[in-house]
Amino acid sequence: MNNFEFYNPTRIVFGKGQIKAIDELVPQSARVLILFGGQSARKHGTLDEVTAALGQRHIETFGGIEANPGYSTLMQAVELIHDKNLDFLLAVGGGSVIDGTKFVAAAVECEGDPWQEILVKGAKDIRSALPFGSVLTLPATGSEMNYNSVITRYETREKLSFRSELVFPRFSILDPTKSFTLPPKQLANGVVDAFVHIVEQYLTYPAEGRLQDRFSEGLMQTLIEIGPALLNNPTDYDLQANFMWTSSLAMNGLIGAGVPEDWATHWIGHEITALHGLDHAQTLAIVLPSVMQEQRAAKRDKLLQYADRVWHINEADEERRIDLAITKTRDFFEQMGVKTRLSDYQIGAEAIPLVVEQLEKHGLTRLGEREDIDLGKSRKILQASL
Ligand code: NZQ
Ligand code: ZN
Repeated sequence: MNNFEFYNPTRIVFGKGQIKAIDELVPQSARVLILFGGQSARKHGTLDEVTAALGQRHIETFGGIEANPGYSTLMQAVELIHDKNLDFLLAVGGGSVIDGTKFVAAAVECEGDPWQEILVKGAKDIRSALPFGSVLTLPATGSEMNYNSVITRYETREKLSFRSELVFPRFSILDPTKSFTLPPKQLANGVVDAFVHIVEQYLTYPAEGRLQDRFSEGLMQTLIEIGPALLNNPTDYDLQANFMWTSSLAMNGLIGAGVPEDWATHWIGHEITALHGLDHAQTLAIVLPSVMQEQRAAKRDKLLQYADRVWHINEADEERRIDLAITKTRDFFEQMGVKTRLSDYQIGAEAIPLVVEQLEKHGLTRLGEREDIDLGKSRKILQASL
């Protein structure tokens, strides 16, 4: 097992009716900005509940954060915070709103150009950020319990990420009833995103992370079990509760501690979203099966373990076992209703050179657990995804 440091200070308050706990979690004297997305938080009453829980505190609201949160939109929130002298942020939504809030928290205190400082330079010089909490309405990204954020600059079609310990949420309210209203597409996206997060911290090479492997296998099996059931029963409390906790644990640093990681699928996926507007999870469902195929030799031992322990495949022939494991992964995404080919989204071979060019521009030229996915391999992965 590799050396590691594990730090996760986010308080999780889990369960039905927990939004009222906000009253104890936000300082009494706070001047609060509630950030949310399009209409879902307002329409389904979550915003009202949050406002009620904040009681007499000074509150301002900022809506309109896009799915794939936009830099220009978020900079308007930064302005509002300065204008109204606000000092505590509350994100109400899915990964986009929480990621956007992380960026806003850092940008408010940033000297210099926030895009450059936080996203291009990766926030390494950022010294402070506003405190914030979140109310999760869409299990998927794990943003509610991690220090990552992914921001899109629509003007230049760039999607960049940053990580900083300064943007761990102080708390996150995980009330599974809040995701009862998710449409099938968002549920499916969430299951696929969480599943791929686990795969990218698991499917590398054996590193004697026995517990990490078994955590990962347990999380993947839980998603395989509950994913299709959720599509049929989105208002089943226990299914949603398992989904919410699984997706948080998939991306809170726990399963990746002490083991190699391979984020190639995510990096390539981000470029596809930036250029073609696909949902985050759609890009992952397209790219992952091709990464598995292209890297099958390098990932051989873990692919066999994955085939055995996650999918219970026990064919005699090892190559056949790996083939089946890749097929079952693709079939799972398709079963959830997420298409797994670029052509399913009307994207053809002519789109590939620009994706590769953007990977190069963003320095993503040595991906994978052994940094052996160069631009040539990324191109092959994309071609295999057509
Ligand atoms: O905007 P509204 O009207 O609120 O609708 C949202 C949005 O259109 C809707 N929604 C959310 N909660 C709902 C709901 N609809 C009905 N009922 C509810 N309870 O769902 C739509 C998608 O929301 P979004 O927040 O965009 O989805 P998700 O949570 O999948 O977040 C995706 C973003 O997170 C980034 C992605 O790149 C993408 O930008 N990621 C963040 C990560 C992190 N911070 O660690 C890691 C991930 O790999 C990912 O890259
Ligand atoms: Zn993701």
